[in-house]
Amino acid sequence: MRAAVVGTEPNEPPVRVTDVPRPHARDDWAVVRLERASLNRLDAMMLDQRTSEAPGAVFGSDGAGVIHELGADVPPSAGWSVGDQVVISPSLHWGRDERVPSSEYEILGSPTHGTHAEYVAVPAANLHPKPQHLSWEEAAALPMAGLTAWRALVSRGRLTEGETVLVGAASSGVGTAAVQIAAAAGARVVAVTASRAKSDEALELGAAVTVDRTAGDVVAQLRAATGGRADLALDPTGNLWGPFVENLRPAGRLVVVGKMAAAVATLDVQSVYWKQLDVLGSSMGSPQDFASLLAQVTTHRWAPRVDSVHPLTDIDAAYARLDAADRVGKVVLDVRA
Ligand SMILES: NC(=O)c1ccc[n+]([C@@H]2O[C@H](COP(=O)([O-])OP(=O)(O)OC[C@H]3O[C@@H](n4cnc5c(N)ncnc54)[C@H](OP(=O)(O)O)[C@@H]3O)[C@@H](O)[C@H]2O)c1
Repeated sequence: MRAAVVGTEPNEPPVRVTDVPRPHARDDWAVVRLERASLNRLDAMMLDQRTSEAPGAVFGSDGAGVIHELGADVPPSAGWSVGDQVVISPSLHWGRDERVPSSEYEILGSPTHGTHAEYVAVPAANLHPKPQHLSWEEAAALPMAGLTAWRALVSRGRLTEGETVLVGAASSGVGTAAVQIAAAAGARVVAVTASRAKSDEALELGAAVTVDRTAGDVVAQLRAATGGRADLALDPTGNLWGPFVENLRPAGRLVVVGKMAAAVATLDVQSVYWKQLDVLGSSMGSPQDFASLLAQVTTHRWAPRVDSVHPLTDIDAAYARLDAADRVGKVVLDVRA
């Protein structure tokens, strides 16, 4: 099969599409013949550190396709048949504790070979029926960004209908999903973006108000949008902790999932304790989180925002698009092309 293999020697290209052996379904695993996959910031971050990967690594956490092969130990009670259309949860071996993943936890794509290939092997427990209203592109755009946003907003952030929610990096994979999840849940979404065009896209996805972080004082813009009374805030960037905390109501919640812009955050300590705020960390999500995400997607018939679709053979262009200033939503790979 063809796969995007990461070059682990410094003089090799970062990634090249080449033929590798097709995986087989052992034990309670399954092999999926992928239709589409997508890229996440995680892939780009790992590509930056590629020389520390094992030789032959195939990245990619997100994919959707049809079941090609089922391992002998996949129980009939799972209800799967070869040919079923599925979307893959990228959280491998989460375990039984909803609060934290197990010590065996990993994200599909490293070290387990990922979805930037024609076939991928995953535990059958990570398969879920593809929501029928989604195209293959949309289904492959959903998993990591949707799961991360779902757990952050709903499981950790305790989002309820009617609340005002601040979403940072609203044009990112996680941010676009967060806007859609919060809007579908009946929240009033205030989206932080980086241009007029991205603001317009956030409004299309369900935001009520937008704030342009490149157009003046973010704290003041957020105050104008919320009166300093937001209930919940989600920051994938690391540099919005301060502005968000200033604009949360007493007993509000800040959930953090990433360090896209800053690995160290500064906060007004007094605002946190005086307002009785919760500062919550969140990463990826459990099988229950993924099932709940799919239930909302299906009930509300929302579809992830796909920025662009690239053939697997042009994976360099897909990685380049991830860094394009005008990108909104997910970069998808057509692994059949
Ligand atoms: N903890 C987890 O489980 C988990 C899972 C998935 C992702 N993440 C993290 O969440 C973040 C987003 O991931 P993704 O895959 O959605 O990324 P992505 O689609 O590549 O989006 C990155 C976004 O970050 C924003 N950004 C870039 N530079 C910025 C800056 N200097 N200041 C503020 N914002 C900036 C931009 O949004 P705007 O142009 O709209 O501002 C950009 O679209 C990453 O840090 C990633 O590592 C964490």
